Amino acid sequence: MILPIYTYGLATLRKEAEDIDPAQLEGLKELIADMFETMYRSEGVGLAAPQIGRSIRLAVITLDPLKEDYPEYADFNRAYINPHIVEVDNSTTETMEEGCLSLPGIHEPVTRPARIRVQYLDEEGKAHDEWVEGYLARVMQHEFDHLDGKVFTDRLSPLRKQMVKKKLQTIAKGKVHCSYKVKTAR
Ligand code: NI
Repeated sequence: MILPIYTYGLATLRKEAEDIDPAQLEGLKELIADMFETMYRSEGVGLAAPQIGRSIRLAVITLDPLKEDYPEYADFNRAYINPHIVEVDNSTTETMEEGCLSLPGIHEPVTRPARIRVQYLDEEGKAHDEWVEGYLARVMQHEFDHLDGKVFTDRLSPLRKQMVKKKLQTIAKGKVHCSYKVKTAR
């Protein structure tokens, strides 16, 4: 089932999401399947639960669309339950343009650490603790920010922030045009 994507201005996007007990959360498998379907349909490479109105620590990532440039990402479609960035290697940062399904029409370069250590459960409930780099580290940081109530424009310089302010206000007023189903603040 395709779920509407919550856009900037809705309170869920600003809430700190809660860890879940995968054994206790009813309908988790269906929810993950719906999030994958919603992400594919909207042509995103990641989707976090607050973006579909659920304040829980859950995100899906697909890197398969990047396989032309990164063959190692072919068929990379994963769900992350209770993900946490537990360590950051600040020795190297990278700057890349980012966009977000919840912030349609905004694309800005964002500087982030190149390597992070993450802990999470996979869809089978298996615990992972690993260092991640490259494009995956980028997407994880973007998605896991959503679980902390952050969006990527929070990471911009004061000048760039000023430049996107009007666009954010427009989205918060419910004036959005996208090819996918959304829920707007007004
Ligand atoms: Ni996003």
